[in-house]
This record gives sequence, C-alpha cells and structure tokens, in this order.
Amino acid sequence: MKELSLHILDIVKNSVKAGATLIGIDIIESVQADELTIVISDNGCGMSKDFLARVRDPFTTTRTTRKVGMGIPLYEAAALQCDGRFDITSEVNVGTTVTAVFGLSHIDRAPLGDMAETMTTLVSGSPEIDFCYTHQTDTNRFVFDTREIRKELGEVPLNLPDVILWIDAFIKEGLTTLALSRGETNK
Ligand SMILES: Nc1ncnc2c1ncn2[C@@H]1O[C@H](COP(=O)(O)OP(=O)(O)OP(=O)(O)O)[C@@H](O)[C@H]1O
Ligand SMILES: [Mg+2]
Repeated sequence: MKELSLHILDIVKNSVKAGATLIGIDIIESVQADELTIVISDNGCGMSKDFLARVRDPFTTTRTTRKVGMGIPLYEAAALQCDGRFDITSEVNVGTTVTAVFGLSHIDRAPLGDMAETMTTLVSGSPEIDFCYTHQTDTNRFVFDTREIRKELGEVPLNLPDVILWIDAFIKEGLTTLALSRGETNK
C-alpha cells in the first residue's frame, strides 16, 4: 500500500469487527531511534492462542465472502520490508494489540499518509466507538480522544458534519504543530 494510514484503516476495521468499544492508535516517530512505531489496541473479542498462532497466515480468516484475509499479512510484510518488527498479542474477551515497527528512514517505508482523514473516516463510520489517537515525536505529543469530545458534546453524535469538520481541523492543526516542533513538514 502506498500509505501506512491505509494499513491502519484496515487493522482498525478488524477491531471494529471484533466488537471493540475503545480502540487506541498510538504512533511514535523517533528520529533518535530511527523508528516509526504504530500500536493499534482494542478491547474487542480477542483471539484464542491457537487462532493467534495462525493469524499471520493469509489463509486464516473468519471472513465468509472469500477464503483469504490479507490485512494482517500485508501489514506485517510492509514492516519487515523496512527492517522493522511485527507483533500481535491477544486474549479472548479482553482484546488485541497489533504492534508494527518500521525503519523511519528506510527507503522502502511508505509515508504515513493523512491521519486526519483516517480518523474522520473511522469516527464517521463508527460514531459509537471511542478512538484514542496519540502521536508522539522525540520532543512532543499530540492526543485526540473521542471520550474528551463526548464530554463536551453530551448526546450529540460524533458523525454530525460539523463535528467531523471540527475533528479534521483539530487533528490537522495538532499534527502541523508537531511537525513544526521538530523543524520538518509532516510526512
Ligand atoms: N483485532 C482483532 N480482534 C479479533 N480478531 C481479529 C482481530 N484482528 C484480526 N482478527 C481475526 O484475524 C483474521 C484475519 O485478519 P486479517 O485482517 O488478516 O484478514 P480479514 O480481516 O479476515 O480479511 P481482510 O483484512 O483481507 O478484509 C480475521 O478474520 C479475524 O478473525
Ligand atoms: Mg482485516
């Protein structure tokens, strides 16, 4: 995939299908460690030990429309292709955590892509789920948490157009500030 954010969308969709009510997306960009780490965690149905041992194989899926599930294998391949690491931990009825580490400066690393668009797509599609997106650099941290927005909005659904526009602008501004703080433009 051309952008890592498309993998993020794909992996978060697994969490949505798993019935999660809270999904964490943590991005850590460390120039010092030369690593880009993406951690996606959920409190969904989880996977059994046996299923987890097979889940990185494309032929492991609970899909019914086709026999292969490519989300996890493609994501793992993208990480390993740039000197990275990949790990999934999961527990039935507790949740799942998918960690991918990419070589930040590796020539084959895809750009992160548009995280404001990614988050507004997720919130629009699943306004009842809480998302907590954190984005950290060596010096700064940005947090977007729908639980905070819900506190302000009360019963107003998060997928109203005005709310989505506000979320888009909030994330864009936060990431621009992060990029400026390390003297780069956002990749
Ligand atoms: N967060 C999760 N919680 C519970 N089960 C999961 C989670 N992520 C993946 N799985 C299980 O692992 C299987 C494989 O996931 P993967 O994303 O590789 O393929 P898929 O979702 O089945 O198909 P595709 O992503 O190609 O649409 C899923 O079908 C699902 O059963
Ligand atoms: Mg999937």
